[in-house]
Amino acid sequence: MTKSILIKPHGSDSLNPLLVDDAQRQALLQEAESLPSLLLNSAAAANAVMLGAGYFNPLTGYMNLADALSVSESLHTTEGLFWPVPVINLTKDISGISGASRIALRDPNTEGHPIIAVMDVAAIEEVSPEQIQSMAADIFGTLDPEHPGVATFTHLGNHLISGDIQVLNLSYFQADFPDTFRTATEIRDEIAQRGWKKVVAFQTRNPMHRAHEELCHMAMERLGADGIVVHMLLGKLKQGDIPASVRDDCIRKMVELYFPENSVMVTGYGFDMLYAGPREAVLHAVFRQNMGCTHLIVGRDHAGVGDYYGAFDAQTIFAEKVPAGALEIEIFNADHTAFSKKLERVVMMNEAEDHTKDDFILLSGTKVRQMLGDGIAPPPEFSRPEVAKILMDYYQLENA
Ligand code: ADX
Repeated sequence: MTKSILIKPHGSDSLNPLLVDDAQRQALLQEAESLPSLLLNSAAAANAVMLGAGYFNPLTGYMNLADALSVSESLHTTEGLFWPVPVINLTKDISGISGASRIALRDPNTEGHPIIAVMDVAAIEEVSPEQIQSMAADIFGTLDPEHPGVATFTHLGNHLISGDIQVLNLSYFQADFPDTFRTATEIRDEIAQRGWKKVVAFQTRNPMHRAHEELCHMAMERLGADGIVVHMLLGKLKQGDIPASVRDDCIRKMVELYFPENSVMVTGYGFDMLYAGPREAVLHAVFRQNMGCTHLIVGRDHAGVGDYYGAFDAQTIFAEKVPAGALEIEIFNADHTAFSKKLERVVMMNEAEDHTKDDFILLSGTKVRQMLGDGIAPPPEFSRPEVAKILMDYYQLENA
């Protein structure tokens, strides 16, 4: 009943998450006792969680080499499904599973490495160093080993195990973030329940500063949206990024104090950050459509790192690489937002009367981290004082 009013999932009429029900889980766990098993790396485990939670609809498992190469090169599988980043299980050691047609997959991120999924092995293919490099170059736009995504991707291994999976659990996310982690199905259901029609997704891996907050307000107002789903990354980040629990606290405080009641859902998803900039932005759009959002905010240097991407490459990719009709979700493009001293509010910089840099309060991430570590709150035009307080407490504990 509720499905008809929401945006369609990507690639199918209804969402087909790969997480099994309790009865199936018991049966599969019993079966898995006699199956050879493979300890996943974190990237492959994160893919299992996203497949299990319905975010990677309509995929039914890990891609084979032909699909992984095709997706990397052309953003389409060999069968023509639009998909922006390979969803693969690349591993170093296959000695424990050679010849097996059905295997158990173990979770590297939970103590005791319990079984997270059972897999029908369609193929185990060797990937050449050239193929790894070619995929990395396509996905990340660079082969610089200093790029955190490239560094991770190029060290996953050279055996690609493809096939359908059934997911038994969603790793540590439900236990560690019971109030925040949500599956795509749960978010869809809640959007339907709230009766929201125009729904904006906000991707973030940061505590929300004023720029982030105002982006959400602007998108809400300009689109005439019914609500915002703040959807934070709860998986692994690079060193120096702020832990999910601290970001969660900041975001909840900001929403409580600075947004109208019932206009925001604070949620999160279990995936490791790729730092793939434009390609990751497109993946973000796919899985926000799957969770029922009609719009995704893409601002400055979305999912970027260092200076690897142009500030708005994650916006232009939608015009350049996403064919018309491939996605139903729409992108709310935002210019660099900052506090204008003249206007006394946060604005999109290209819409301010005064374009000189001096009119804006601009602070680099490094500078903000330094201030917080020294117990100095960033100016209230940059960070809400209540958010700054949570961050200062965190940094001081870290530095103690
Ligand atoms: S991201 O890696 O998850 O994209 P972050 O949490 O910093 O990083 O950003 C979340 C969203 O806000 C992204 O769409 C990003 O482009 C946007 N954003 C962050 N800061 C600004 C800013 N000052 N101006 C415009 N957009 C911004």
